[in-house]
Amino acid sequence: MRYLTAGESHGPQLTTIIEGVPAGVPLTAEDINNELARRQKGHGRGRRMQIEKDQVKIVSGVRHGYTLGSPITLVVENNDWKHWTNIMGIEPTELDEADIKRKVSRPRPGHADLNGAIKYGHRDMRNVLERSSARETTVRVAAGAVAKKVLSELGIQVGGHVLEIGGVKAQPAQYESLSQLQEVTEESPVRCFDSTAGVKMMEAIDQAKQNGDSIGGIVEVIVEGVPVGVGSYVHYDRKLDSKIAAAVISINAFKGVEFGIGFKAAEVPGSQVHDEIIWDEQAGYTRRTNNLGGFEGGMTTGMPIVVRGVMKPIPTLYKPLKSVDIETKEPFEASIERSDSCAVPAASVVAESVVAWELANAIVEQFGQDRIQLIQENIEKANEWARNF
Ligand SMILES: Cc1cc2nc3c(=O)[nH]c(=O)nc-3n(C[C@H](O)[C@H](O)[C@H](O)COP(=O)(O)O)c2cc1C
Repeated sequence: MRYLTAGESHGPQLTTIIEGVPAGVPLTAEDINNELARRQKGHGRGRRMQIEKDQVKIVSGVRHGYTLGSPITLVVENNDWKHWTNIMGIEPTELDEADIKRKVSRPRPGHADLNGAIKYGHRDMRNVLERSSARETTVRVAAGAVAKKVLSELGIQVGGHVLEIGGVKAQPAQYESLSQLQEVTEESPVRCFDSTAGVKMMEAIDQAKQNGDSIGGIVEVIVEGVPVGVGSYVHYDRKLDSKIAAAVISINAFKGVEFGIGFKAAEVPGSQVHDEIIWDEQAGYTRRTNNLGGFEGGMTTGMPIVVRGVMKPIPTLYKPLKSVDIETKEPFEASIERSDSCAVPAASVVAESVVAWELANAIVEQFGQDRIQLIQENIEKANEWARNF
């Protein structure tokens, strides 16, 4: 499977074309809208998220609620576009005085503005920021919603939650099932299982906002029901953990990724890291622990995939940051009026989406591409094979 996204933050719409989704997967606009709504929630979001109530239009690839196997096109319109028709106009246009004043010549530290402008030769950095904006993650969540539907047809469940915001750490989540984790975190404004830490996270966000500052955090994605051996050790670009790592890092503002105990593996001896293998008649091969987060040799072990990503604090601040105007070369202090102060809860939904996409893609590639029933049968056979191995 593959997908492309297109669209500017204040353009008319965001679009994704998704190719290679097997036929026969139940899919409705509501399935996708639920995920879009999850991305828009969260304590710490700015005014833009109140303007945009994202709704998807499925314009190809689905008929009577089922995927056809043909390319699926999803469109999300930007409600804010009506205020930007001049500035973001597609046809050649005469800009009025006010529009010219809105030309962006002041790069914001932490954004793609300056490097993007130099690279593409844009004197108006709006040409950079409109596309580098995390608004694009809307359609990545839409594509992820399709991937989640594929996975759910195969008995694979994806969940996510927030572990840390601005230095406030949640206690390790002791959940009975992934569904319970999802139920609890869905009610939390910061998507945190630990309600006490959740309150402190909200206080930290409010404090940061009051200081004109922003804070980052850590999110975790968990996938259960994964068959053994998805991905491969035979070639570097077939290792599924590396594809998932790249997908997580590709989310705007994500700076690090780890699986299982991750970077802690540097501190403890191997005997406390590697997951001992056990076997019983019913389950076949399993592991006593899951320290490596469901991967060995670039392939799934059959244990839950556990992947975490760290998000830096949002770069647009009310508190001014020093920069240089590219027209005058004069220093200035960038202070912005409309921004999130923390988007970690929303980013955890984006992380779920990109992980779901990579896994669904690898599974479709490995177990048959045309129709979901064929993939179901092939996975059952593969599970049977692994049990009896
Ligand atoms: C869901 C989400 C929402 C974001 N919202 C904002 C925002 O409101 N203001 C901002 O300056 N950055 C925001 N960011 C982060 C920037 O998009 C990101 O830092 C920027 O594009 C530069 O990319 P880089 O940090 O990956 O280098 C958000 C990121 C995500 C994932």
